[in-house]
Amino acid sequence: MNQNELEGKVAIVTGGARGIGRAIAHALAAAGASVVIGDLRADQGEAAAREISEATGRTVAAIQTDVTSLADAEQLAATAMERFGRIDSLINSAGWDQLKPFIKTTPELWDRVLSINFKGVVHTCHAVLPSMVAAKGGSIVNISSDTARVGSFGEAIYASAKAATIAFSKTLAREHARDNIRVNVICPGLVDTALLEEMREDPLTNRILDAIVGLIPLKRMGTPDEVAPLAVFLCAPASSYITGQVVSVNGGLNMVG
Ligand SMILES: NC(=O)c1ccc[n+]([C@@H]2O[C@H](COP(=O)([O-])OP(=O)(O)OC[C@H]3O[C@@H](n4cnc5c(N)ncnc54)[C@H](O)[C@@H]3O)[C@@H](O)[C@H]2O)c1
Repeated sequence: MNQNELEGKVAIVTGGARGIGRAIAHALAAAGASVVIGDLRADQGEAAAREISEATGRTVAAIQTDVTSLADAEQLAATAMERFGRIDSLINSAGWDQLKPFIKTTPELWDRVLSINFKGVVHTCHAVLPSMVAAKGGSIVNISSDTARVGSFGEAIYASAKAATIAFSKTLAREHARDNIRVNVICPGLVDTALLEEMREDPLTNRILDAIVGLIPLKRMGTPDEVAPLAVFLCAPASSYITGQVVSVNGGLNMVG
């Protein structure tokens, strides 16, 4: 990775307090970008910003943001504009899931899963796009999931929210190509994060995840640092002709044509 390929660029990363989002925030800063983390977890967001800034020498800020709120998403975009005067990239990594057979789920769970994983992406894109359109350029990277491409036991609504994110991203890619704004999607398979650890507290989920790991051709889960370089690439000039695409990072778990 070219150390300065994002020099002078500004990126917003939702869900950047931990997990995949944090690794992406770190990798973007290491490539030269100033980064604004928007995450529900204020303390972890602040700590991530401080540590990434110390490690990379770049400016990294954190703003407590609930992506289920359009007002919060607008505040996140406004703060980035006030502080840095531009937004070149938006990476949506905020997400949440709980494995449960569909028949046992409740409307409250459907709303929560859809609000965080799909409407959150809608909110931040709506908040950030006007400044990208005005600047005639930008890159949006939405973190979906392989569940969206192939379905997944116990994840009916989550997989649907992630599939909606793909359709939404492809549509934005078409609507905003004329503005030189690219929109792409990363689908992780199984990535070793705190989210997965929390989900493993449920014994059935633990068994399912172990079974899935056994099916991965590379025979292990991925790490957040193995997802982050693709996000940096999709924000960098090197990917200038790539838009509306969906790329899995999954150790070969699913090989979608
Ligand atoms: N870990 C995996 O195996 C895996 C697989 C496929 C897709 N994903 C997706 O990758 C993304 C990152 O997941 P992760 O494993 O790093 O999870 P994680 O829980 O480690 O990190 C997610 C971050 O999102 C934040 N967040 C949750 N709800 C939020 C909200 N309403 N507003 C703002 N921030 C919020 C959390 O505070 C957390 O910091 C998610 O979109 C997830 O669905 C993860």
